[in-house]
Amino acid sequence: MTRKRVAILISGRGSNMVALIEAAKAPDYPAEISLVVSNRPDAAGLARAKAEGIATAVVDHKPYGKDREAFERALQAVLEGRRIELVCLAGFMRLLSPWLVERWQGRMLNIHPALLPAFKGLDTHRRALAAGAQAHGATVHVVGNELDSGPIVLQEAVPVVAGDTEETLAARVLEAEHRIYPQALKLLVQKRVQEIEGKSRR
Ligand code: GAR
Repeated sequence: MTRKRVAILISGRGSNMVALIEAAKAPDYPAEISLVVSNRPDAAGLARAKAEGIATAVVDHKPYGKDREAFERALQAVLEGRRIELVCLAGFMRLLSPWLVERWQGRMLNIHPALLPAFKGLDTHRRALAAGAQAHGATVHVVGNELDSGPIVLQEAVPVVAGDTEETLAARVLEAEHRIYPQALKLLVQKRVQEIEGKSRR
């Protein structure tokens, strides 16, 4: 089994990154984490990735100002340099332009802390509480051109319970995130393998 070469893109803490790294330690997991990239030099997740012996890179968005595509070209060069086949966004807090999304069509996953299509964007836990939602959760989806859009791979719902605060709800959702992201990456790899094998048989 040749394992798919995956890059994880982070901006901060990197707990979903850790969940993916841990899952990929299983000998039968179909992907290896080949690279972790952060757009923030101070992202806490970078140290953890290094401690795991994983190659890391920083592509700081700040020097590029409003030129989103120039930032993305620099990012793309890093991904190509490491022969990356699939990308997982894991708390990567930059909007992506169609330029990058098209290059990774069907090969880029994102995790979002809500049951999409509900609560796209930021502050999902606060908004779920304000809406009186009885259930909330997490979604892993293939990245499409619109914000927090694209085919859903996996979702997990969690209950909203009496007395929940943003923090308690976020913590419950985060546990679900850590369960579904590794599963979703595995599903994407298997689906792509099936597609490729299907094509070669025709
Ligand atoms: C996670 O809850 C993730 O779903 C969310 O940021 C957090 C990152 O945590 N992503 C977004 O809000 C994307 N718009 P982590 O760095 O510990 O994985």
